[in-house]
Amino acid sequence: MYSAINEQLKALIEGVPHRIANLANAAALLYQELPDVSWAGFYLAQEGTPSLAEGGIKDLPEEDLGRMLVLGPFQGKTACIEIPWGRGVCGTAAKTGQTQLVPDVFAFPGHIACDAASRSEIVVPLFGPDGEVVGVLDLDSAKPARFDEKDAEGLEAFARIIEKEVFGRA
Ligand code: SME
Repeated sequence: MYSAINEQLKALIEGVPHRIANLANAAALLYQELPDVSWAGFYLAQEGTPSLAEGGIKDLPEEDLGRMLVLGPFQGKTACIEIPWGRGVCGTAAKTGQTQLVPDVFAFPGHIACDAASRSEIVVPLFGPDGEVVGVLDLDSAKPARFDEKDAEGLEAFARIIEKEVFGRA
């Protein structure tokens, strides 16, 4: 499944010098090819402190205030625009640099409920040329425990292609 998707991704974005177009096609590819996915897309790292206060910035540690995640290209229902660094599943993936596999979103402390129908989620961090987190790839499902280790592996390979073709990572 993922080897075919990842080949399609390469065919879609290799040599295309347009970041938003490439991320948009990547999100659409996942959304159209993977069953039981209600949301697929990107949040991108940006300097600054969240101003829209979605998820709240109260109690955020000082070190997390200078950056945030901002909604990027996606497929699915409208979503939260800003996510504080370290908050929710996406902010945790960004802060730790580790894939977050969440079989039950209600069991994840601080989960940000963009879509009330979402039951499980997987978030893979994206790294830039200097090893810094430049964003995350986020997939949601209305089915509990929709994603497993195989999805994590496939989506991490997908993320490596995005890092190289879109963010210039060697
Ligand atoms: N649930 C995510 C927020 C983003 S939406 O699912 C699209 C989180 O907790 O980070």
